[in-house]
Amino acid sequence: MKPELRIVEASFVAGVAEQDQLPPPALAEIAFAGRSNVGKSSLLNTLVGRKNLVRTGSTPGTTRQLNLFHVRAADGLEAVLVDLPGYGFAKRAKHEKSRWGALIEGYLSKRVTLRAVVLLVDVRRGPEHEEKELVTYVESTQGKASRPKVPIIMVATKIDKIPRAQRKPALARLAADAGCRVVGFSAETGEGKEELWGLLRGRLVMGTPSPPDVGDLPQLA
Ligand code: GTP
Ligand code: MG
Repeated sequence: MKPELRIVEASFVAGVAEQDQLPPPALAEIAFAGRSNVGKSSLLNTLVGRKNLVRTGSTPGTTRQLNLFHVRAADGLEAVLVDLPGYGFAKRAKHEKSRWGALIEGYLSKRVTLRAVVLLVDVRRGPEHEEKELVTYVESTQGKASRPKVPIIMVATKIDKIPRAQRKPALARLAADAGCRVVGFSAETGEGKEELWGLLRGRLVMGTPSPPDVGDLPQLA
């Protein structure tokens, strides 16, 4: 068995409210998407083994921008984890919602270093309209940016909230509904952390960022 991926360094890189504030693409990136309050920021803290690297809260809409975090594992693997603002039932003004929608869509469709999207759903709710829309959206971007196909990994959060005996059948139902593998996860107990890192590591190791466009390279004399 592979040793657990141990994060030895994690730091905040940038909070981005507009597309043009994104740092230049460099390392492989993994984006974490899902409706408000589903547990994206909590999952990130659990993945990096830090309690409060990412701000979490019980009021939906805690994360209001794209937050980028740089991580380095004990084996030297480096990546950027991107906490996307929650969508869905956030108590937000309409114009704000569409601005955030454009920011998320712009990032998902254009970022050349994006190597996977982790889509979080509450294990008790499963994928609803917004989640299915997000899957369709990511599918529609495939092949358009110069990057490898971006897979969606579905994670069922707050698995600690349902009795142990119901977990396997609940995950099987979600997987059948979503048509993909679903990782059960709890930020409270850490369940699912290793399984998820196992899947992400594969994307990070394989998905070395594409070289910059030829136009960006210094010209040879
Ligand atoms: P936004 O930033 O608003 O999009 O929310 P978010 O998806 O980042 O959710 P966040 O991580 O802030 O968590 C929302 C609430 O759910 C917090 O009160 C967390 O403590 C709680 N929560 C998150 N993950 C879990 C989990 O695995 N189990 C339990 N029991 N509670 C969780
Ligand atoms: Mg958040």
